[in-house]
Amino acid sequence: MHRHLTGAICRRQLLQGGAALALASQFRSPLARSAETGDYRLTAAPGRSALMGADRPEADVWAYNGLTPGPALRVPQGKPVRILVTNALDQETTVHWHGVRLPNAMDGVPGLTQPPIRPGESFAYEFTPPDAGTFWYHSHANSLEQLGRGLAGALIVEEPEPFAVDRELVWVLSDWRLTRDGEIAPRFGNAMDDAMSGHIGNVVTLNGRVPDDQAVKAGERLRLRLVNCALARMMALRFEGHRPTIVSIDGQPCDPHEPKDGLALLGPGMRLDIVLDMQGEPGQRYSVVDEFYDGLSYTLTRLAYDRGEPIRAHPLDAPLALPRNPLPEPDIANAERHDIILQGGMMGGGMMMGMGGMNGMATPGMDGRAAWAINGQSMTGDGQANMPPMLTFKRGRSVLLNIKNQTAWWHPMHLHGHSLRVLSRNGAPVPCRQWADTVLLAPKDAVQCAFVADNPGDWMLHCHVMNHQTTGLMTVLRVA
Ligand code: C2O
Ligand code: CU
Ligand code: CU
Repeated sequence: MHRHLTGAICRRQLLQGGAALALASQFRSPLARSAETGDYRLTAAPGRSALMGADRPEADVWAYNGLTPGPALRVPQGKPVRILVTNALDQETTVHWHGVRLPNAMDGVPGLTQPPIRPGESFAYEFTPPDAGTFWYHSHANSLEQLGRGLAGALIVEEPEPFAVDRELVWVLSDWRLTRDGEIAPRFGNAMDDAMSGHIGNVVTLNGRVPDDQAVKAGERLRLRLVNCALARMMALRFEGHRPTIVSIDGQPCDPHEPKDGLALLGPGMRLDIVLDMQGEPGQRYSVVDEFYDGLSYTLTRLAYDRGEPIRAHPLDAPLALPRNPLPEPDIANAERHDIILQGGMMGGGMMMGMGGMNGMATPGMDGRAAWAINGQSMTGDGQANMPPMLTFKRGRSVLLNIKNQTAWWHPMHLHGHSLRVLSRNGAPVPCRQWADTVLLAPKDAVQCAFVADNPGDWMLHCHVMNHQTTGLMTVLRVA
């Protein structure tokens, strides 16, 4: 679909998604919760995982509780949770709770919000999730490699009243660059990937496996929670023969709507909850195809209908709207306004923009690998102490950010600790003024979004293409 996005991607091998490998791809048992205390425990450690399927060689991964992705954590909305994270890796780590509006000290950014968890040590994350929805957790230390080796999982905050569907599925989508022997390619980050489309892989997994068919029943209504955990791969999923309805974006309920051109668009870090009424023919199979990269579409999986009679004749007659979360509404008229200009990267013709003049900052993370900048400044790495905020807001202020992508590349821009109301894109109002914590910008896009700066602390704003974040597309906003 996106003709201008080719160069960097054509070099990789063809995807092997959708191969009919004999393994059910649903979650394995989570084992994350202590029966006595109700606390959750996550241990990050090296492990092995059959990413390609049970009959194929396993890869060395880094896993939470032995699982890649980590266990799907389910927590109730508005109740305190405690998650004890133990580091059994041989390097420092942290865990970030992506999209959750939590206290700054629990945000998991190394140096900036907590000292990193050293090998052999533990850290207890404690917070009360205010919003119900689909979130995720992932390492925020040495992110390119730690996320790239599998340290991510779904975090589901459950609504107090169950949503009326027959079944709920969580699809955690990951992208891996595997070698011929099925191992994870050892290098993360090189000048080309960093300055172009990022570390795009050659194998996409669903809940940690190249997926087999997904068994469905005619007539049932599914809630499908999609999470894009990839380092860099954008996804645009088409559900052949079906009409998905988006009911929530980045964990925040929206007006139920069918996606533009029928494609569920997910940049790295983004989530969509969709409702699917299974109106296909019993006994038939329907492909789920990722059409993001022009000429490189592949079948992610297939919806395989059981032969039985439909469980109901007409789609379920239940409301599709989820209850709204308690988000503060920004006061647009009185908001303070700021431009956030995304700069750098390789240009279409292969010319690097002169980044020398952009490195106006001497932060501890400056390592000379800057390929990108925000408003002329490059903060690199995963977060560190003493990152000076680019902007400081008085607590409670409404803020309108005008994010302008001056680069030739796509950027899913993510703000920690808040949700953004997306107001307009390239001058056109966004139909349902959705909330999002990760806003996808196409090359040259300009997006206006607003939020109430009500959560005190230093919050990262960065591109969720990990190569872009670690090479300069990152900054810090302070709520004083
Ligand atoms: Cu999901 Cu700062 O990251
Ligand atoms: Cu985040
Ligand atoms: Cu980016």
